Amino acid sequence: MSEPLRIALAGLGTVGAGVIRLIEANAALIARRAGRPLQVTVVSARDRNKDRGIDLSPYAWEDDMVIMGERADVDVVVELVGGSDGPALALARTTIEAGKGLVTANKAMIAHHGLELAQKAEAAAVPLKFEAAVAGGIPVIKGLREGAAANEFSRVYGILNGTCNYILSTMEDTGRDFAAVLAEAQAKGYAEADPAFDIEGTDAAHKLSILAAIAYGAKIDFAAVDTTGISKILAADIAQADSLGYVIRLIGMASTENSNGTERLFQRVQPHLVPFDHPLAHVDGATNAVVAEGNFSGRLLFQGAGAGDGPTASAVVADLIDIAREMERGGEAGAPFSVPVAELVAMDRADTGHRMGRSYIRFVVADRPGVLAEITAAMRDAGVSIESLIQKGRHDEDGEVLVAMVTHEGPESAVAEAVRMLEGSASLTRAPLVMHILAD
Ligand code: NAP
Ligand code: HSE
Repeated sequence: MSEPLRIALAGLGTVGAGVIRLIEANAALIARRAGRPLQVTVVSARDRNKDRGIDLSPYAWEDDMVIMGERADVDVVVELVGGSDGPALALARTTIEAGKGLVTANKAMIAHHGLELAQKAEAAAVPLKFEAAVAGGIPVIKGLREGAAANEFSRVYGILNGTCNYILSTMEDTGRDFAAVLAEAQAKGYAEADPAFDIEGTDAAHKLSILAAIAYGAKIDFAAVDTTGISKILAADIAQADSLGYVIRLIGMASTENSNGTERLFQRVQPHLVPFDHPLAHVDGATNAVVAEGNFSGRLLFQGAGAGDGPTASAVVADLIDIAREMERGGEAGAPFSVPVAELVAMDRADTGHRMGRSYIRFVVADRPGVLAEITAAMRDAGVSIESLIQKGRHDEDGEVLVAMVTHEGPESAVAEAVRMLEGSASLTRAPLVMHILAD
């Protein structure tokens, strides 16, 4: 068997410790499949003395992680620190500049700096891999780049954040409070260091922008993702959705639209109402699922654990095995985004005004005469047709009432206009919440 692939591991938190456990537990089968052993030579984190539940004595320790790629005993660096900039980005740059391969699970860094890093990696002919950055343990990047590479995709969409899915499905099953369920997701190692990235939709938007780049051969455009998180969803919304035949899921969706002969990119992360009979309605806990609609493959569904130490480590180590095989074969490093960065297209953001669909709109209003008439008048004036409307009596001692409606199919712009017309109304005690209904 050939010489080991020598690995520097930066970050020994949830995922980093998972990678060490996996490489140790499955060493023999990994060596067989990779054609050579994977050997961690050096590790780094902030606190050398922290108890991580793993034995670090076999590995050298590096205080300054940024220079790990320059070490003579390292072939590949694995970055599991996190953060779009700071030490993670400095490490990525120095590693590639030193002519070493890089594996990362860092979707924030790839969403913000992926093109620069990929360009550097292409120029240096070194591998840059980030399977674990999207949908944890699901090999969806490999799936789109390789298994479904021959297809044109009409839509790529799915559940891309395990923390949000865990929160929504647990609230649905138990009726428990948002904050308590978030704390549980954090304790299980699903959440980002700052969980606002999860619950405000940013993490899912990072992942969507990476998937869209791969699916559509587009330059990553994270800033163009229209992003709404789950923090405004009430337990009452989940109950209303249930009574109407839906669950609520945070969905990331990308597609292209042809407008006056120009191809534009639509990217949105938003909580949706998902009909009970849609496959995504049954995706619970920290599970992720990605649907890719290929013109020859038909609907492909990739599903599995989207967060946590084991599943994420599985994706990281799969990238390392690929690198070990490629280096073993003396192969080309390849283009990180499937096509070279210079050939990725800069697509304009699609205009969402004309999009058609059905929506759920929820108002929390003062319990007094005329309020419902005010809301329905705004719907009428904006041209929104209401399919069903539920008004729940006093839901707390403040005399607030919840009014939820589902619209008929119509332009999203009309719903936005109705909500805008009600802005500042003294009848509303909270800002309205709009969630689109996922179309089959
Ligand atoms: P984590 O548990 O917070 O671990 C981060 C590690 O990086 C820790 O070992 C920490 O050191 C080290 N670190 C942080 N800042 C540092 C600095 N300035 N200098 C040196 N070391 C530093 O994070 P994680 O959950 O493992 O996530 C790591 C990466 O994987 C992130 O990019 C995350 O988005 C991504 N990811 C996570 C999951 C998941 O399920 N957790 C799934 C997919 C992708 P100390 O331990 O000494 O503090
Ligand atoms: N915080 C992320 C999530 C980790 O909950 O999905 C996996 O990327």
